[in-house]
Amino acid sequence: MQTVIKITLLIAAAVANCCLGSANKEKYHDIDPGKPLFLTTLIRNATVSRQQIKNFARVNGSQFLGVESYAGYLTVEEKYNSSLYFWYFPAEQNADKAPVVLWLQGGPGSSSLIGLFIENGPLQINEQGKLEKRNYTWSTNHNIIYVDNPVGTGFSTTDHCHGYARNQVDVAVNLYEAITQLYELFEWKNSSGFWITGESYAGKYVPALAYYMHKMQTTTECKIRIPLKGVAIGNGLSDPLNQLKYGDYLYQLGFIDDNGLYKFHSAEESAEICIQSGNMECAFEIFDSLILGDLPAGSLYKNLTGFKSYYNYLKADDELAVLVNRMKVFLQANATRRAIHVGNMLFHDTDKVNKVKKHLRKDYMDTVAPLVEEILKYYTVCVYSGQLDVIVPYTLSLGYLKLLDFPGAERYRTAARKIWRMDGDIVGYFKEAGRLIEIMIRNAGHLAPYDQPKVLYEMITRLTHNY
Ligand SMILES: *[C@@H]1O[C@H](CO)[C@@H](O)[C@H](O)[C@H]1NC(C)=O
Ligand SMILES: *[C@@H]1O[C@H](CO)[C@@H](O)[C@H](O)[C@H]1NC(C)=O
Ligand SMILES: *[C@@H]1O[C@H](CO)[C@@H](O)[C@H](O)[C@H]1NC(C)=O
Ligand SMILES: *[C@@H]1O[C@H](CO)[C@@H](O)[C@H](O)[C@H]1NC(C)=O
Ligand SMILES: *[C@@H]1O[C@H](CO)[C@@H](O)[C@H](O)[C@H]1NC(C)=O
Ligand SMILES: *[C@@H]1O[C@H](CO)[C@@H](O)[C@H](O)[C@H]1NC(C)=O
Ligand SMILES: *[C@@H]1O[C@H](CO)[C@@H](O)[C@H](O)[C@H]1NC(C)=O
Repeated sequence: MQTVIKITLLIAAAVANCCLGSANKEKYHDIDPGKPLFLTTLIRNATVSRQQIKNFARVNGSQFLGVESYAGYLTVEEKYNSSLYFWYFPAEQNADKAPVVLWLQGGPGSSSLIGLFIENGPLQINEQGKLEKRNYTWSTNHNIIYVDNPVGTGFSTTDHCHGYARNQVDVAVNLYEAITQLYELFEWKNSSGFWITGESYAGKYVPALAYYMHKMQTTTECKIRIPLKGVAIGNGLSDPLNQLKYGDYLYQLGFIDDNGLYKFHSAEESAEICIQSGNMECAFEIFDSLILGDLPAGSLYKNLTGFKSYYNYLKADDELAVLVNRMKVFLQANATRRAIHVGNMLFHDTDKVNKVKKHLRKDYMDTVAPLVEEILKYYTVCVYSGQLDVIVPYTLSLGYLKLLDFPGAERYRTAARKIWRMDGDIVGYFKEAGRLIEIMIRNAGHLAPYDQPKVLYEMITRLTHNY
């Protein structure tokens, strides 16, 4: 793991392209999708007022049930014309003081708009394809930002193959640049602090960004100080070597028999050897053939269990695909595109040719455990897991947490686990030691906020408002 990180100061200068006030060409259903809104040159231009830029970025609320939001592009690496797309929702209550929360989807290559529309944002899309408000949204009491990350994901873009992230340093550098610009624009001066959250493969992005932010803010004179308080990682892949025990897990759940277990064990051993010898690509191929199944041969998991999905072991079908498709239809509409300032930009969400994942192949099976150890010295780290997940199971995450070296590590190994009750139900279990909070969420799979919106709302609220 890299501990010394190059400091790159980028002065981005993309062409400002404001879609407001463009000629109205509407006739019948023919709505102009407008142009993508690039904000960086405006943010960098001292003569343009913050209020003016916010007005450009403001999303037409009347198209979104009156919900206030801001969206646009932030140029993060000028030489490759790489820009990250963000969509920001100010807190509905007490926005001035509310914590600022960044949400990152995993994948790699999954759009964070999945988090917005399917997990924890103020809006969801019903079976008729219409917007409705979500009952439990993190935006009630958080200023929440969804960023399509890394470039090439969702609406985020790059013009060059070198623009794609190849490791977690690339990811962190671009995200840090974007967050800095957002702080310049929205300021959040009175906010109680900044939290980095995410799910799944974001188990790598989240620690990478927190660590980089910490280094940047302690070792250099930074223009903008971001008041980082902590992170929350949901069913996160952070230390593949020590999370790679699928065979035992599936065997104990009754999904595979002894023959299947034998196959899993031998593949897992080979993958471990690959990782230990530094060959992350061969480890990745084995991981894919075991469980992901993105390569043509599919996965052993699917072959042996017949399951189409690995997000919740009570559900054999891919329920998420239906929801994501519904979201894509909504996002493709010109009226939506116009309102959210993406114009005709392509929307990439784990495409058939997932370029984001391809470029991260050598990084996929690498660990961020040393970064988690480092941030545990200074910041709250909440690791939460839906119990029913197959792709990043709770017990396999314990496998790596137990090995971490941090202030409180000894205590973590012996600390008493507590029962978490809400409204008379047992909703989960948790354990605390040092700055680590480890939580298991009942009746939830990989997308815990989707399965248990109220519980996860309560969790994030306690985390960001009490610690
Ligand atoms: C969407 O916009 C494109 C131009 O970018 C236009 O060709 C197309 O007809 C529009 N579609 C609808 C349904 O309005
Ligand atoms: C900054 O904004 C002003 C006013 O809008 C404009 O005249 C000027 O050209 C801009 N400067 C740069 C460097 O873009
Ligand atoms: C905002 O949305 C409303 C309702 O859909 C629409 O009538 C109006 O034209 C939109 N405004 C702009 C500037 O696009
Ligand atoms: C950067 O990319 C955007 C979006 O594709 C494009 O509109 C813009 O012209 C590009 N800028 C440069 C300098 O190539
Ligand atoms: C949201 O709350 C309303 C009112 O309490 C209720 O009728 C509705 O079923 C809830 N929706 C969901 C998806 O839980
Ligand atoms: C932040 O708090 C100060 C002091 O209470 C107040 O004067 C100021 O208006 C607040 N800032 C914003 C942006 O609301
Ligand atoms: C899954 O089954 C198919 C059909 O029998 C086979 O071609 C494929 O190699 C199997 N994949 C794995 C990873 O075992």
